[in-house]
Amino acid sequence: MEVTGFNNERHKIYNGDAIKVLSEYIEDESIDLIFADPPYNIGKDFNGYKDKWDKDEDYLNWCYTWIELCIRKLKKGGSFYVMTSTQFMPYFDIFIRDKMSILSRIIWSYDSSGVQAKNYYGSMYEPILFCVKDANNYTFNSSDILVEAKTGAKRKLIDYRKDPPQQYNTEKVPGNVWDYARVRYRMSEYENHPTQKPEALLERIIKASSNIDDVVLDPFSGSFTTCFMAKSLGRKSIGIDIQEDYIKIGLRRLELLNDYKGETLARPLKIYEQDKNTNLPTLF
Ligand SMILES: C[S@@+](CC[C@H](N)C(=O)[O-])C[C@H]1O[C@@H](n2cnc3c(N)ncnc32)[C@H](O)[C@@H]1O
Repeated sequence: MEVTGFNNERHKIYNGDAIKVLSEYIEDESIDLIFADPPYNIGKDFNGYKDKWDKDEDYLNWCYTWIELCIRKLKKGGSFYVMTSTQFMPYFDIFIRDKMSILSRIIWSYDSSGVQAKNYYGSMYEPILFCVKDANNYTFNSSDILVEAKTGAKRKLIDYRKDPPQQYNTEKVPGNVWDYARVRYRMSEYENHPTQKPEALLERIIKASSNIDDVVLDPFSGSFTTCFMAKSLGRKSIGIDIQEDYIKIGLRRLELLNDYKGETLARPLKIYEQDKNTNLPTLF
């Protein structure tokens, strides 16, 4: 499959296979933050394209390939957030843990399940791994993502272990259980995509793990929530998806639709220019 797409100085959209685009179009060590939300191998229907591999082993081997590539594309101080279904996350965890530092195992918990289970406990969460390449050097803007600390803010408790006694903090860095409603039809952010992630979830991730003008990449962009939030927060973005219908959603959300001509991109796309002083390639 050829890769088509669109790019300007700050935002790039690739219509193609993630492994192909990552390996042939993205420079090594050029990305600050990657959010990867692949098909979960649970039989979802992505616009006629079924998310189910014949053997679990085949799904995992496919995932291991793009995970390796994501790690290679991250800068030394880069961060990687990756999702999959609850049943496959343990394999991801074991695969990644000796290649990166896994700093948090996050639960995205929501109020209602798509399927109402009757004979077992319905799934009300999705796991997210937060990993960094270098545990001594990574971006984490804790002050940009503070949430209310109920002990201090609501219950107004006093910490008598302090001298003099002090009220508990009213704000804190969020823990690893994140409550965000799933995106449903009629919500203002809704797009026609079966597994659209909430803007608020990506807002937290992008604010915490990147800075203004950093490059955020999403290899399975779907409805392009990641790129849309990256743009809204002043970051650069690179989005990839295999389905043209989803690319169109992305172009619209990033306000690039009028500039898009569906052109085939040269291989490899020249996504860098030589820095005049150092002669090293620099992104954009
Ligand atoms: C779980 S969804 C991502 C949803 C996205 N995070 C959002 O907020 O809308 C996975 C996406 O991966 C895309 N996809 C499946 N196989 C792919 C491949 N080999 N390369 C690139 N994209 C692929 C699907 O079209 C689907 O949109």
